[in-house]
Amino acid sequence: MDAQISVRDIVKVYPNGVVANKKVSLDIQEKTIHAIVGENGAGKTTLTKILFGLELPQEGEIFVKGKKVHFRSPIDAIKMGIGMVHQHFMLAENLTVFENLILGIEPTKFKIFLDKKTAKEKILKYIEKYKIDIPLEKKIKELPIGVKQRVEIFKALLRDVDILILDEPTAVLTPQEAEVLFESLRELKNQGETIIFISHKLKEIKAIADVITIMRDGRVISTNSNEELTQHDIARLMVGREVSFERVEEPKEIGKVVLTVKNLTYTNSERIKVLKNINFEVREGEIVGIAGVEGNGQTELVELITGLKTPTEGEIRLFDENISGKSVREIRTRGLVHIPEDRMKNGVAEKAKLKENLISDRYYKPPFSNKGALNYNYIDSEANRLVKDFNIITQSIENPVSSLSGGNIQKVIVTRELSSNPKVIIASQPARGIDVGSEELVHNFIKEARDKKCAVLLVSADLDEILKLSTRVLVIYNGEIVKSFNEVSTLRAEDLGPYMLGVKRGD
Ligand SMILES: Nc1ncnc2c1ncn2[C@@H]1O[C@H](COP(=O)(O)OP(=O)(O)OP(=O)(O)O)[C@@H](O)[C@H]1O
Ligand SMILES: [Mg+2]
Repeated sequence: MDAQISVRDIVKVYPNGVVANKKVSLDIQEKTIHAIVGENGAGKTTLTKILFGLELPQEGEIFVKGKKVHFRSPIDAIKMGIGMVHQHFMLAENLTVFENLILGIEPTKFKIFLDKKTAKEKILKYIEKYKIDIPLEKKIKELPIGVKQRVEIFKALLRDVDILILDEPTAVLTPQEAEVLFESLRELKNQGETIIFISHKLKEIKAIADVITIMRDGRVISTNSNEELTQHDIARLMVGREVSFERVEEPKEIGKVVLTVKNLTYTNSERIKVLKNINFEVREGEIVGIAGVEGNGQTELVELITGLKTPTEGEIRLFDENISGKSVREIRTRGLVHIPEDRMKNGVAEKAKLKENLISDRYYKPPFSNKGALNYNYIDSEANRLVKDFNIITQSIENPVSSLSGGNIQKVIVTRELSSNPKVIIASQPARGIDVGSEELVHNFIKEARDKKCAVLLVSADLDEILKLSTRVLVIYNGEIVKSFNEVSTLRAEDLGPYMLGVKRGD
């Protein structure tokens, strides 16, 4: 049987000399969901960009449906029936779904949409065919992220592609939204689509993939059917060692209260009360997990604690001092660090060098600088040490952060925040977009900080992460803490679900 896509000995060297694909060969069969997994920087995105005509390889051959192709742009790829949904959506926020769908297709090139009526007919036909639920008259900006993604997928389908590439489509989705996406993908497969799926969530890979290809350091190291591999096998092949998914051991000693949130209320600029009378404490040596579907007030809660926003009512106390309304700098000097949920917005200066990002919170202090003069030798040796200790994959600390892969950028932030000997860690989705090996590393660093009596607040939509790390779990729904669980070792994701969805609430 001819494969839908055959890739032979692809080599990709970026202008900066990074060899991202080192003779990659791969066959993708028709009507399968083919997962590609691998560590951050393994070359997955590069390979899919080549398949979609966004990057040109230096060597190798690509065959699509038996025909040798030379893609110079996505237009060439689309003509051969290949579509790609990017992680960062490319929809016009102020237009409706319908307007975005017809925008996405240039009538002159495709001669499909000569008028709106024909367009609408085709769209309705495809909605029925693919059983994809999208609100045509709503504006994009009014839609939750999972629905925006459905629009992106639908836009690709409208171009009559039969091969769909999805690069980390679930990284930004809640578990509930991911489930809906998987239903659609299964339906698409039944309709004859071939799907290439990249994800770091091994549970998802096991749930959805027919075939699993593992990449490491620019090479394909194996391709197997799903049944041939367990989650542990995949992790081991990816990172070259055993990875633990077990719950971390309980803290030895829980000390005094470090962080107190008292009667905290926040009303946003649209006069919506997004947090309502929140109360909790975090003690030395414990990890308090906040579980919830994203968008239930977690973002604001973290912004209030870290000084990015000021409470409407109530107070936040750090070591018996009211810090509500204090600046980010003032709060940080008291030993509170923050791993932000949006790494590009609040986490790094993209154009700055890797080493500058690693020390941006401490360069003005000795021994990084003395009497205002920077100590470059010390800065370089310290940056190199951090890169090594935290396993950040890069050629040089002189490279801009933007040249790192997504997961490695996340590691830069975690490294900087956790290496400053914090007393309190506010961690939002700390493992988002990073590979299982790095995730374990980040989790171990958080656990080690806990064992050094650090107080940790962990906010995550990933229930496996919450259940693995937390000493106690609070569930947030619609701006309120609706339930608290003090015993986590026997807790399961299913126990949290009804509270997260607002179906149940505690006392
Ligand atoms: N535009 C670019 N210029 C230079 N180097 C790049 C560029 N894009 C990626 N790289 C490098 O190529 C390598 C492979 O990156 P790629 O984005 O393909 O990895 P990935 O497997 O998708 O990783 P992740 O899981 O973190 O998304 C990395 O070392 C990365 O730093
Ligand atoms: Mg990638």
